[in-house]
Amino acid sequence: MPLDPFGRDINYLRISLTDRCNLRCVYCMPLKGLQFTANEELLSADEIHTVVRAAAELGFRKIRFTGGEPALRHDLLDIVRRTASVDGISDVGMTTNAILLPRMIDDLVSAGLRRINIHVDTLDPENLRRTMRFASSDDIWTGIRAASDAGLNPIKINTVVVQNYNEEDVASLAGLTLAYDWHVRFIELMPLGGGGCAQMALSQYVPNAETRRRIEAEHGLLTSLDTGDPSDESRNFRLKGGRGVVGFISPVSEPYCGTCNRMRLTADGKFHLCLLRDDEIDVKCALRSGGGQDRVKSLLLQAVQNKPTGHSLEQGISTEHRGMFQIGG
Ligand code: GTP
Ligand code: 5AD
Ligand code: SF4
Repeated sequence: MPLDPFGRDINYLRISLTDRCNLRCVYCMPLKGLQFTANEELLSADEIHTVVRAAAELGFRKIRFTGGEPALRHDLLDIVRRTASVDGISDVGMTTNAILLPRMIDDLVSAGLRRINIHVDTLDPENLRRTMRFASSDDIWTGIRAASDAGLNPIKINTVVVQNYNEEDVASLAGLTLAYDWHVRFIELMPLGGGGCAQMALSQYVPNAETRRRIEAEHGLLTSLDTGDPSDESRNFRLKGGRGVVGFISPVSEPYCGTCNRMRLTADGKFHLCLLRDDEIDVKCALRSGGGQDRVKSLLLQAVQNKPTGHSLEQGISTEHRGMFQIGG
């Protein structure tokens, strides 16, 4: 098992497959001025396979595909199939906005996808258009239903709470857990990437304590749940009479760096050591200059050994210059 210098067992690799997205959520991607990684600079399916095999040999067990929007990768199915068949990998998941799921979810499940986390900021169709731009509620809900019909369980809904956009919509979202056995998780906005999105994260941040108060005002007190997984960054609860889980991911007000078990691979082939810092190790360069699985293993070990702990978000500071869509959350 790869233990870092702080004794954390780093066994979860988040792989961003592309920095492109079919949406432009207000806090994540600006409408203008974006520059995307050229296709030939993205890691190929073969290169990703080499990294996954190296990671599995080191003791990584969990892989999650992220983006941008991972479903935009034309070779997604192939990547999922090859990942799921690597010895030692027991959990293959994807974080998506669900829009492209209906046409591919059955194939993805057959290829070995086990779990899906879906980003939805509000149940109100007009507000959804304002917040997630380019998205329609109908498209997202068709995607969520497709994932549910395909048997994926649990489905996790991720909601980023932003003042003047969706802070009043949190109780209705939490209410989904009365009818469904899903997890609905509220995420505090993080100031990543500099520019307007980072500014918005500073000025329109809503602490999860406030989100919890809004939910409890509508639904009554939440009951705490122990999910038995210390590396789960979500603090989990149940509504009275609820079937699902209401979770709070609070990187700003309650940092969880001490139990972080993640390593990240960016779409352009860098191990990204912490979501909120710039530190990276270039694996693509090694792969493209003749390095194989063993070289990747030694770089990944180096990445684990240099993984920092602690960030300064509570002081409103992130050294991170990449946006969330470039790292994959
Ligand atoms: P599970 O496998 O279901 O536990 O998924 P997950 O929660 O690890 O993945 P998901 O992509 O759904 O992550 C939810 C959100 O949590 C991300 O979009 C980020 O906003 C936040 N997040 C995930 N990992 C980290 C992390 O290491 N640090 C911080 N600060 N936030 C993170
Ligand atoms: N802060 C917190 N979460 C964010 N996401 C995107 N931008 C931010 C931000 N600034 C989340 C979305 C999505 C994932 C890619 O990252 O909810 O699930
Ligand atoms: Fe796309 Fe997710 Fe960013 Fe929204 S938050 S623009 S869905 S990558």
